[in-house]
Amino acid sequence: VTMSQNTYWQILRKELCINGTWNSSYNDVVNDWHESIKAMADGKLNVKPLITHKFPLSECNTAFKMMKNKTEFYNKYAGSRLNMKKKISPSVMCADFFDLKNCIRQFEESKIDMLHVDIMDGSFVPNYTLGTDFVKILKANTAIPLDIHLMVENPESKLDWFQLSPDDYVAVHCESTPHIHKAVAAVKNKGCRALAALNPGTPICALENITDDIDGGLVMTVDPGFAGQKLIPSALEKIKKLREYLDERGCDNIEIEVDGNVSFHNAALMNEMGANIFVSGTSGVFSKDGTIKENIAKLRGIIS
Ligand code: DX5
Ligand code: ZN
Repeated sequence: VTMSQNTYWQILRKELCINGTWNSSYNDVVNDWHESIKAMADGKLNVKPLITHKFPLSECNTAFKMMKNKTEFYNKYAGSRLNMKKKISPSVMCADFFDLKNCIRQFEESKIDMLHVDIMDGSFVPNYTLGTDFVKILKANTAIPLDIHLMVENPESKLDWFQLSPDDYVAVHCESTPHIHKAVAAVKNKGCRALAALNPGTPICALENITDDIDGGLVMTVDPGFAGQKLIPSALEKIKKLREYLDERGCDNIEIEVDGNVSFHNAALMNEMGANIFVSGTSGVFSKDGTIKENIAKLRGIIS
């Protein structure tokens, strides 16, 4: 099993944060992850005093023992999150519409996981893009699951307009309705996976009362409405914070989708922060630097 430092750290934190708050100074100590883990496992780096006063030694010993046998540690703590598949979701609004059929065929041949379909109402965001008939056309011409991003006011009252299937994902924005539970329930009632989307300026605590209901969080890394925008840097830290926020609440099966300027460079960073669904548009799958297939392969290499 391979995992990023961030994931290993999250799992160890979950093990050691069995009760009580995490000792922030410990974070400072274990900054060079692998060396520290090796030193801890070899008993050379004595961090026990730093954390044992926070946690019963037996539990710390469990974790340290586990670290001696990484495979056992990984297997025990991998959880659904570590086994969470990394998924690519090309943003169709960025496609060449004069060549859409060929584009979809390339997606099928590249076995992408889902198709990101941006729906905008000109009110929640200052733009219009794809619509209900376009979704019908996709449903009639490809079996790729859809990843519908509703950037519309009161999505709960518009879901019936769309032709959806059980393996589709539907993202509703927390900012787009006063009744987020109704909106999420409306998605679940269609048998679809429900993502709660957060604009860059919306704090992750907006998800606090719906973690029991959602299948994922969509972290917007640009203000929604247009393709080709630049990443808002603070969104990277937000991905990490959301992963930690969810893991600390035992919600390690809730996925994190990222959307906006998911370039090859940014995707590597977002991956490190804990994202597992990558919406890829002008700076990724549709980048002029390669063919669609080449870009998908490149992105897949970066995130897996
Ligand atoms: C923006 C949309 C994104 C956008 C991504 O509101 O939600 O899906 O199309 O395009 P890039 O990847 O170019 O930012
Ligand atoms: Zn989108």
